[in-house]
Amino acid sequence: MKLSQSAALAALTATALAAPSPTTPQAPRQASAGCSSAVTLDASTNVWKKYTLHPNSYYRKEVEAAVAQISDPDLAAKAKKVADVGTFLWLDSIENIGKLEPAIQDVPCENILGLVIYDLPGRDCAAKASNGELKVGEIDRYKTEYIDKIVSILKAHPNTAFALVIEPDSLPNLVTNSNLDTCSSSASGYREGVAYALKNLNLPNVIMYLDAGHGGWLGWDANLQPGAQELAKAYKNAGSPKQLRGFSTNVAGWNSWDQSPGEFSQASDAKYNKCQNEKIYVSTFGSALQSAGMPNHAIVDTGRNGVTGLRKEWGDWCNVNGAGFGVRPTSNTGLELADAFVWVKPGGESDGTSDSSSPRYDSFCGKDDAFKPSPEAGTWNEAYFEMLLKNAVPSF
Ligand code: BGC
Repeated sequence: MKLSQSAALAALTATALAAPSPTTPQAPRQASAGCSSAVTLDASTNVWKKYTLHPNSYYRKEVEAAVAQISDPDLAAKAKKVADVGTFLWLDSIENIGKLEPAIQDVPCENILGLVIYDLPGRDCAAKASNGELKVGEIDRYKTEYIDKIVSILKAHPNTAFALVIEPDSLPNLVTNSNLDTCSSSASGYREGVAYALKNLNLPNVIMYLDAGHGGWLGWDANLQPGAQELAKAYKNAGSPKQLRGFSTNVAGWNSWDQSPGEFSQASDAKYNKCQNEKIYVSTFGSALQSAGMPNHAIVDTGRNGVTGLRKEWGDWCNVNGAGFGVRPTSNTGLELADAFVWVKPGGESDGTSDSSSPRYDSFCGKDDAFKPSPEAGTWNEAYFEMLLKNAVPSF
């Protein structure tokens, strides 16, 4: 997580594929993945109490390929378990919408498939590592070739539950980085695109969370109100969609949930930020959102926050060296406003390349506290995956 400063095919579920025991009657085969009837998610409740984040087949394949490269049998056995952890699937380009149909096929009724909507024009305006395919101004392509396509696939699978994280980093960048030309020129497209996404993805089988960065970003005293206003405006411009439950935090981030005093509480500017951990941030930003008139429940990415004390500065976001997998997805957060801990960033996929000759090289990925070598954002890094595994808290 960034911040500078300040058809159903006749799919069989895994269960249905298992050989029936000779003594138990065979369960009826499902004609498709998901439930036997249409799913309706009630956004006034915590759906994570009823549904478990699905360990998606795309990440499973990445992890299985990683396991095959590990020679130490103990580590390989641990690595295998990572494939069973619920993780979001990133739809980070028009082409990668192609990952969606195959990923829907094995989602059982009690699971919810997590998806990240991430393809705004001029994406990642304050950094370079995740610059996207659509240029500033290509909002029509975003709507028709990206959002509309995803909407039609989700509508074709009414019996499956989906949880969406909407456009990580985008609105937070407009709050704090509008001094950059890349962000000011992206602003109208981000606002229009996010509102379009929220309005059109507002389907009964979908629950949505709009991204709000993390405590070290919009948690600064000066950013809380503008941040809440920016998100609430997008929500209202979308027609106050019923299926928006609130916001996501710490996506691809490193902050602890409840370490106290917080990791950066000794910093000279700490007095300007009361949100020194994500628990305080969820409560504080949640109240600001409520005042601004937007639903305010949160999901928090705990995929890579197992180890703290690694970053030189709070804003260091790229492939933090020494990191470990964090708490597995659960709805037991201990805070009513926090619906669930989830894994959004697939641990093992890079945040950005450390190759300074690449057009998407960002200097944050070359910092002392960043793991090197690292491949392009989204690409698998076996060594990083194994590090996350060895350093996992709790361990595997
Ligand atoms: C990358 C995406 C990738 C995602 C998950 C982002 O930083 O830009 O391409 O899908 O991380 O790994």
